Amino acid sequence: IVGSGASSKVIATLPSGESVEVLLFGATVTSWKSNGGKTENLWLSEKAALDGSKAVRGGVPVVFPVFGPPPKSDHPTSSLPQHGFARTSRWEFLGKSSAEDALGSDSVKLDFGLYSSGLTDEARKAWPLDFGLVYSVTLSKDSLQTVINVRNEGEQSFEFQFLLHTYFKIQDISKVAVNGLLGVTYIDKVLDATEHKQSDNSIKITGEVDRVYASIPQDTTSIVEDGKPRFDVVRDNLQDTVVWNPWIEKAKSMGDFSPDDDYKHMVCVEVGAVQGWQKLDKGEVFEGGQTIKSLL
Ligand code: BG6
Repeated sequence: IVGSGASSKVIATLPSGESVEVLLFGATVTSWKSNGGKTENLWLSEKAALDGSKAVRGGVPVVFPVFGPPPKSDHPTSSLPQHGFARTSRWEFLGKSSAEDALGSDSVKLDFGLYSSGLTDEARKAWPLDFGLVYSVTLSKDSLQTVINVRNEGEQSFEFQFLLHTYFKIQDISKVAVNGLLGVTYIDKVLDATEHKQSDNSIKITGEVDRVYASIPQDTTSIVEDGKPRFDVVRDNLQDTVVWNPWIEKAKSMGDFSPDDDYKHMVCVEVGAVQGWQKLDKGEVFEGGQTIKSLL
């Protein structure tokens, strides 16, 4: 653990130079370097708050137990803030383990925990259910795996949504395509909040994009840059993916998004379970996550 208080973070490095940094605040991955440590794969705003004062603008914020603005009323998540409390709670560092696979390739796994008992009074009051979250971040030579384990520790059943809000760093949005969602139905939050069907395998980003693709049969969504594969995002037990870029006006309007024109250097491809709700009865467990591969 490096630093103290709200800005404490955990850094892990492989002998070959790759590294990952995770802020205890939100268990937010703020940096992932591959290619011997030479290539940063995650976008982080220059004005991202890294002192625990608000959710981090960039990296991989963890969205739980509600995605987006919560339902207006009549739902246990209704008094929570947008995207829930996981990204603004301080997590515990549970430990580190290293492994070597049969081919001699190293990996290091960091585990973080968040339990109902560790929430702020405000969050606990807004969502008074007993749960345990264990979030595992595994760094390998060319990939980063992030997996959540949600456990219902109480007597009462509960419902939740979950999402990994990954901000990928790219060179030039005009040369980027998000591939692999052909035929999938999505809600277009920018256009009309209604359902559309993805008719092209390649999504080009030429304006504000905020789409929720649901029940995706394909496992892998790819980010292609300049015609070359840049990232593969592989979902595990998660059916949905949000594609988001705020573009010019929205980027400007966000106080913690900087520099203003950095919407050109990022794209969010966010895997999750956000259509409807995941239900867990007493003692039940849900596990889901992603493996992101840097293909440089
Ligand atoms: C995305 C949502 O997941 O997150 C967008 O689909 C939202 O609608 C974006 O604008 C950023 O949210 P926030 O709360 O971090 O500003």
